[in-house]
Amino acid sequence: MRVRPGRSDDVPALTAIYNHYVVNSHVTFDTQPFTPEQRLADWFVQFDAASGPYRLLVAEVGEGEDRGQVVGYAAGTRFRPKPAYRTSIETCVYLDPEWVGRGVGRYVYGALMGLLDSMPDVHRAYAGVALPNDASQRLHEGVGFRPVGVLREVGFKFGRFYNVAWYERVCSVGNSR
Ligand SMILES: CC(C)(COP(=O)(O)OP(=O)(O)OC[C@H]1O[C@@H](n2cnc3c(N)ncnc32)[C@H](O)[C@@H]1OP(=O)(O)O)[C@@H](O)C(=O)NCCC(=O)NCCS
Repeated sequence: MRVRPGRSDDVPALTAIYNHYVVNSHVTFDTQPFTPEQRLADWFVQFDAASGPYRLLVAEVGEGEDRGQVVGYAAGTRFRPKPAYRTSIETCVYLDPEWVGRGVGRYVYGALMGLLDSMPDVHRAYAGVALPNDASQRLHEGVGFRPVGVLREVGFKFGRFYNVAWYERVCSVGNSR
């Protein structure tokens, strides 16, 4: 198992992982699956600027020089578009459903937290967890987030409303600026 920056040729595998949750789960509030081309143009593009604050890490398994199997990813993306939010990042993590509950989430999300901690321009990270999601709540608290509140019935999917718990994390280098 290793973690490395995501590349454009990972997008088909990452789209398949994300679409699983779009179609089958309340953990994301997207409701229609994406094509890899859509994800490349609308989502992956933000990670292309190496100098920017947005980061994509993938967890990969497999031996040797050959290309491995991508089993999950963690991303830090724009929190909100207004410019004064630029020091805040929204984070997320999604694993291939075959790979949940084996420490991969902790590994790849922990690596993303280490990266965000090293970035002087990142002051806070935020994540919304649609409830229930015990694994995600445990993971967020395990990598240093603290709960800051619950939006009640803020999302509607599969014919019912869902609450979202928001989490906040202090990012060490950016916090000291
Ligand atoms: C949420 C997710 C990333 C967690 O990754 P994971 O590899 O399954 O979790 P890990 O094995 O690294 O465990 C992380 C923590 O969660 C706990 N945990 C894992 N699965 C759990 C479960 N089903 N119920 C309760 N706690 C659980 C672990 O015990 C561990 O806690 P600890 O550090 O206090 O011991 C993964 O399950 C996933 O991709 N889920 C679907 C997508 C999703 O919900 N993404 C998050 C959207 S907010």
